[in-house]
Amino acid sequence: MKQFSNSITGLPAVFKSACCLLLFGGLYGCLGSAPLSGSQNFARLQSTAASPTPVPVPDFDQIPAPPDNPVTQGKVELGFRLWFEPRLSANNRMTCATCHNHTLGFSNAQRNAAGVTGQRGARNVPTIYGSLWQRETFWDGRAKSLEEQALGPIENPIEMNESLANVLKKLAQVPYYQQKFQAVFGSGPSAEGIARALASFERALMMAPTPFERYQSGEKQALSPEQVRGMALFFSGRTQCASCHQGPALSQGIFANIGIGMNLPQPDLGRFVVTGMPWDKGSFKIPTLLNISRTAPYMHDGSLSTLQAVIEHYDQGGIANPELDPRVRRLNLSPSEKNELLAFLNSLSAPDNLRSLGKLPGIHLPAAEIERLILNPL
Ligand code: HEC
Ligand code: HEC
Repeated sequence: MKQFSNSITGLPAVFKSACCLLLFGGLYGCLGSAPLSGSQNFARLQSTAASPTPVPVPDFDQIPAPPDNPVTQGKVELGFRLWFEPRLSANNRMTCATCHNHTLGFSNAQRNAAGVTGQRGARNVPTIYGSLWQRETFWDGRAKSLEEQALGPIENPIEMNESLANVLKKLAQVPYYQQKFQAVFGSGPSAEGIARALASFERALMMAPTPFERYQSGEKQALSPEQVRGMALFFSGRTQCASCHQGPALSQGIFANIGIGMNLPQPDLGRFVVTGMPWDKGSFKIPTLLNISRTAPYMHDGSLSTLQAVIEHYDQGGIANPELDPRVRRLNLSPSEKNELLAFLNSLSAPDNLRSLGKLPGIHLPAAEIERLILNPL
């Protein structure tokens, strides 16, 4: 318990500790104008120990959250049930886990996703690992918080396609939800309660320290020599990877244009659609790299099917377009350097605590049912 919560509760310690900054300071030093987004982002890098199995449940009151929605055990329990609740969908068959399937790194192994009507959106399903570190959600950042995001998929016609009024009616007929919403929020099922509980569940979803983080904490055998060379490349001024992918989730949570889809006749303009700013054309949220080895295919449109293809994309200098970020330019990596980078990307994965969250007492599902959901989500 203690070991695991370090990666969350270590927040204040981070401000005191210079270890990561010392280590990366030199490397970042080469990046010139690359912004260091503040030491808070290094919180996850402070975790010290190898991952115990299963990953324990963290101390909820230590998880960073908006002041009006602190993470509590009751909300996480309710959020867990709602995450796997088919009543949130029009046909009572689709859950959040249908698309964000934890056996596939909380994505779905497809370029995009089909909703209850079979209609598909244009975007790849992002993982929710590390979403507590994200300021804005969705590939274009159109939702300002996890709370704001959570109700979107329920009413979206190409996702769960259900009205909130119907969802509330259905939930109110289930004694568990009547009692649980009452206990947690002091009233029956409500849209706001659903949003708060789902967001709390997402924030409580944690990974054990990755091999990369364990290496940072002094466990030098956690990475192979090849991975260590890949890490140096990743944090080098030559690749610039870490100038965008940095902090606890290896994402700055801001937006950048690396050219994906910009060679299409009618490209998805991403962030531009939200802000209307011409320089945002083709910018998308810098995604987390946590558990990246599990969430193929990659990019907002799922157009790159492997991590090798992602590395090739960067090696070739991205896809040319007027707003291409200048940090994306031809790298001329050797074949062994590409392998090193790939080996490093594979060190960013670790088991999560879903199973331990599933064992919280207030979920009120038979143990076998939880095990079924975890092994085989709807
Ligand atoms: C039909 C598939 C589907 C279902 C069902 C679904 N999602 Fe998603 N989810 C997506 C896609 C696709 C995106 C990205 C959309 C975009 O960026 O425009 C997304 C984005 C998200 C994000 C933003 C992640 C980030 O990094 O920005 C969160 C959080 C999320 N979904 C939570 C949920 C929750 C909670 C539910 C259940 C209430 C749910 N999703 C149901 C497909 C789905
Ligand atoms: C200028 C900022 C920037 C730089 C530099 C950068 N990235 Fe990215 N990265 C992004 C953005 C933005 C996306 C998503 C783009 C999209 O979907 O259109 C992305 C996507 C990815 C993905 C796919 C993630 C997913 O879930 O689909 C991987 C893997 C990745 N980058 C690794 C790297 C590596 C390795 C390097 C260095 C060679 C690197 N990045 C350099 C901004 C950057």
